[in-house]
Amino acid sequence: NIPTHFIELKNDNRIIAQKIKVIPLEIVLRNTAYGSLCKQTTIKPGTVLEKPLIDIYLKNDDLNDPLITKERIELMKIISSEDLDLIINLTLKINAILKSFFENIKLKLVDFKLEFGYDSKNNILLGDEISPDNCRLWDLNQKNDTIKSLDKDRFRNDLGGLIEAYSEINRRINDFL
Ligand code: TMP
Repeated sequence: NIPTHFIELKNDNRIIAQKIKVIPLEIVLRNTAYGSLCKQTTIKPGTVLEKPLIDIYLKNDDLNDPLITKERIELMKIISSEDLDLIINLTLKINAILKSFFENIKLKLVDFKLEFGYDSKNNILLGDEISPDNCRLWDLNQKNDTIKSLDKDRFRNDLGGLIEAYSEINRRINDFL
């Protein structure tokens, strides 16, 4: 029951999507502390958060996509506070769905980034994509809590094995479905 822009899968690397007017906000949900959260606070990497944390960033390359507050979003009139609440609630719902989906295939959903937009009737739809490019996924098959990233952190942190990691996720999803 998540409204998304997805219409149809055309082939392995092409989808048909509903055209949307993208809202210039990046909605990041974190279940476990990692990445920028740990660089900008004293929270230790790997700390499981008591409840999901939602961090919102302004999509603006010139400003380097800064972290933004609800009040600043209101001040800038980017979207109404009702629509922001709707987006936040959808993000929490998406987290519950994705977290349990990935647990089935022994992956820990650490965090992810979503983008939303308006369709021609002003409905809010989930846009963009969900992939290891915008999710942190850790292998739950690892022994003694070692972190094994199967996501873009392999590229970001120069760990190597990017294609192998993405292929592994693809394989686990296909086996599960
Ligand atoms: P962060 O720890 O760098 O803030 O990233 C949090 C999550 O958001 C992580 O899964 C990567 C994703 N992300 C994007 O997809 N695009 C971006 O531009 C940024 C900054 C993060």
